[in-house]
Amino acid sequence: MSQTPLTDFIAGCEAWVPGKDEPVCQGRLTRMVGLTLEAVGLNASIGQRCLVVDSRQSIEAEVVGFHDNQTFLMPVEAVHTLRAGARVVPLESANELVIGDELLGRVVNGFGEPIDGKGPLHCRAQQSLNGEYINPLHRAPIREPLDVGIRSINSLLTVGRGQRLGLFAGSGVGKSVLLGMMTRFTNADITIVGLIGERGREVKEFIEEILGDEGLARSVVVASPADDAPLLRLRAAQYTTAIAEYFRAQGKSVLLLMDSLTRYAQAQREIALAIGEPPATKGYPPSVFARIPQLVERAGNAQQGGGSITAFYTVLTEGDDQQDPIADSSRAILDGHFVLNRKLAEEGHYPAIDIEQSISRVMPQVISEEHLKLAQQAKQLWSLYSQNRDLISIGAYNKGSNHEIDRAIALYPTLRDFLRQGLKEQVPFEPSVQLLKGVLGASAPATATGNRQAMAGGRPIRGKRTVSDS
Ligand SMILES: Nc1ncnc2c1ncn2[C@@H]1O[C@H](COP(=O)(O)OP(=O)(O)OP(=O)(O)O)[C@@H](O)[C@H]1O
Ligand SMILES: [Mg+2]
Repeated sequence: MSQTPLTDFIAGCEAWVPGKDEPVCQGRLTRMVGLTLEAVGLNASIGQRCLVVDSRQSIEAEVVGFHDNQTFLMPVEAVHTLRAGARVVPLESANELVIGDELLGRVVNGFGEPIDGKGPLHCRAQQSLNGEYINPLHRAPIREPLDVGIRSINSLLTVGRGQRLGLFAGSGVGKSVLLGMMTRFTNADITIVGLIGERGREVKEFIEEILGDEGLARSVVVASPADDAPLLRLRAAQYTTAIAEYFRAQGKSVLLLMDSLTRYAQAQREIALAIGEPPATKGYPPSVFARIPQLVERAGNAQQGGGSITAFYTVLTEGDDQQDPIADSSRAILDGHFVLNRKLAEEGHYPAIDIEQSISRVMPQVISEEHLKLAQQAKQLWSLYSQNRDLISIGAYNKGSNHEIDRAIALYPTLRDFLRQGLKEQVPFEPSVQLLKGVLGASAPATATGNRQAMAGGRPIRGKRTVSDS
């Protein structure tokens, strides 16, 4: 048959319409229990997006399971007026959301829609929410320290570019505030923030008070507060990671902050329990423990010469229980954990990082040997003081009995002040290390006072016994 412009055009249209020969098989809604929708007659695969349509409402839902001829779906948005018999129409589009440089400076929800009132987004590209697999052997190793602007972290728990860390604490101990400080101070090209399942009030506070106009200009915020459907919260966490991957693919150094990983796990728990998966540990079904590594493993370094995603995930340890199953499984998969201590917070010691319990697993690979020795020395002295704190405070310790304890007691006030840092105070990497060196050089309490004064401005110590001497 001879080709004409018209047949060419029709052939082009046919190629463009996916699955043109397959009739769309629609289902019917038969049951709704809790959040789970059950449909019959639907020919859709797991993860497929569908539209549930009745005369009054049309909502998006996703296939999350099946049993015989029944398909289980979870709505992505609030369900108000659906009735039995509503049509369930599978959608062609895959699990993808808009992506592009246009996202910078914007606040979006889990659908990829702007919620900041700054007009529509004009992203042309779409990206899968599931991310792309990176062969672990092709990933660049973590070799470079990342300046997070927080003295205690820079010097004692150094973060590597491309590392994935958890901030572990009970409620109200300062996870979000610490994350906010890092958002402002970290030396990264782009910051991607996922506010997943937390309070709606905090979204506005975070954007206006923590990020500010300058911070927001190089950030993207994905917000899915606690009242969003669990599937939307899951999707928002995946979308946050997909945006970070997009900028990493451009060779950028990306800082990914997610508050919180626990809410992400709880969203998966809600879904899994709703479709009948049996709970395993503390009410969490096994699929939750599979979901966490799937998300977290997407962060990190790309191939050699590519960009990086350094990620911080907050993990809520319920009742300050460090053995909480989500905390336990996150600790195992992450490259380090910073534990925030309620007792320190109650004493007004902020950031309440418990340096004894916290660890950065890549630290030895990204800092000098001299720095590592200083950090170990500081941790040992702090730990020695903590172990003998009760004896010291009741006067049961006799000065001179143990040289190391004497030193720990002499250094304690300086070390404590070194670990405390004001909300608006930024201390870059080098000055943090120099300051630590100065603190450890000091042995007499008189010097400690001098150091405290010098630290008040977040500047390196300039008085006597400082690193500037070295
Ligand atoms: N660096 C800090 N300086 C002064 N106050 C702080 C600091 N960090 C936390 N706080 C105080 O602790 C409160 C709780 O902090 P934050 O909201 O960060 O806790 P959270 O661990 O995120 O709690 P939740 O688990 O409930 O989300 C803050 O409202 C603030 O009053
Ligand atoms: Mg919080």
